[in-house]
Amino acid sequence: MNISIGKTEQFSTKIILVSGEEARDIRDFDGKKHSITLRYKDEETRVYVSVGEEYTFDSCLNAAAAAVRRIVDLKRESVSVLVPKASCLTPVVEGALLGAYRFEAYKSEKKSCLKTLEFVGSDLAEEDMEKARIIAEATNYSRDLVNKNAGEIYPDMLAQKARELGKKHSALSVTVLDEKDIEKQGLNLLYAVGKGSPTPPRLIIMEYTGNTDDEKRSAVFGKGITFDSGGQNLKPSGSIENMRLDMGGAGAVLGIMKALCELNVQKNVIGVIPAAHNAIGRDSYFTGDVYDSWSGKTVEVLNTDAEGRLVLADALAYCKATYNPTEMIDLATLTGAILVALGDTVSGLFSNDKTLAARLFTSGEAVSDRVWELPIRDEHRKAMESDIADLRNISKIKRNAGSITAAAFLENFVSHTPWAHLDIAGTAWNDSEPRGITPKYATGAGVRLLVHYLTQ
Ligand code: BES
Ligand code: ZN
Ligand code: ZN
Repeated sequence: MNISIGKTEQFSTKIILVSGEEARDIRDFDGKKHSITLRYKDEETRVYVSVGEEYTFDSCLNAAAAAVRRIVDLKRESVSVLVPKASCLTPVVEGALLGAYRFEAYKSEKKSCLKTLEFVGSDLAEEDMEKARIIAEATNYSRDLVNKNAGEIYPDMLAQKARELGKKHSALSVTVLDEKDIEKQGLNLLYAVGKGSPTPPRLIIMEYTGNTDDEKRSAVFGKGITFDSGGQNLKPSGSIENMRLDMGGAGAVLGIMKALCELNVQKNVIGVIPAAHNAIGRDSYFTGDVYDSWSGKTVEVLNTDAEGRLVLADALAYCKATYNPTEMIDLATLTGAILVALGDTVSGLFSNDKTLAARLFTSGEAVSDRVWELPIRDEHRKAMESDIADLRNISKIKRNAGSITAAAFLENFVSHTPWAHLDIAGTAWNDSEPRGITPKYATGAGVRLLVHYLTQ
């Protein structure tokens, strides 16, 4: 997409953001938040979109997205977007590029012809536009990775994507452990989960060095299950169809690293992806068996479908010991239960550190990539104790607190490092119609949240 800033509009198709109050002057327009009306005059098309009562980051973001989505449906090639005030440029650019997103790789006829967006207003800063573009494009990049076929995005393909980023950016160095390294190093949980697949597991580590004088470094982890069949605890029809989404965390981490590189952020961040295909077959790992994790803690696997926590456990413990990060944040499509608890617009947040949790919440509100904290208490920790091993991978509490007990399991592998776990199983995927910046299918949840958090 070509984007630019202009002082007067060049194109005959225009998007105009209006407040609810301004909308009342437009004939037969109710001006409800994010509603749209089209007006035609000679060659000109005006797309009015209401931001609701006020021009906020959230209202401009989603209004711009809704209007641009409509423009794409109208098959326009070039559009001028009128920016109501300079402070709205960031959300308008971000919203416009997120709303323009279409996943058409598997359509024989491409529908989208939008090529040029011009943002019109006074005192608009090129730098704001550029930053917003990088963040939106990183989100769309992550969406593409998650939307693509599971047969196309297998663990080593995620490694190739990481290497591709490493080649482009000198500040990013990429290390990949293949299945032999994984076995030799004793990352037995990751090895076990990936064992049943002809596409073997990988541990992908991306080290971004943006400030050599800074001793601090954050680590972000993304669950990279390229397809989750459930393994021997095979998922039934109705639950399995979308399971290529299960690398949503990994897709987000790749997007985050891409954005950090392009924004030239002066921080040090490690991106880590334990990647595996949780397959069913002759070589799958066994329900009921005990596996020895990298940390030394043994795990009774009572359900091979609770595989995300297993691959993350090894990744968290191994990276903590190897890179000693100052904080660790993981993104994972970990539990169906989080969709029941929080729905598909808010991700679950779990943490052992109040300050980290509060800062993540603030970032989520700032960029409309929202999180809500749930507790981890001793009763949840107790529910993950095994009689035959140190831990079990599913809770003793039946059908209760599934997201919390999953987080309680992960907590065993982070020692005392400030850690936060984001359960994005509800937010990474949208089964319904597009709304605002959220398209159908992969949403890119977590990218904008963590880019904001890491650049604060
Ligand atoms: N990948 C799933 C979680 C998931 C479910 C993501 C629905 C997106 C939508 C995860 O690996 C899983 O299967 N979790 C089980 C845990 C259970 C076996 C304790 C679940 O949520 O049912
Ligand atoms: Zn699973
Ligand atoms: Zn899974």
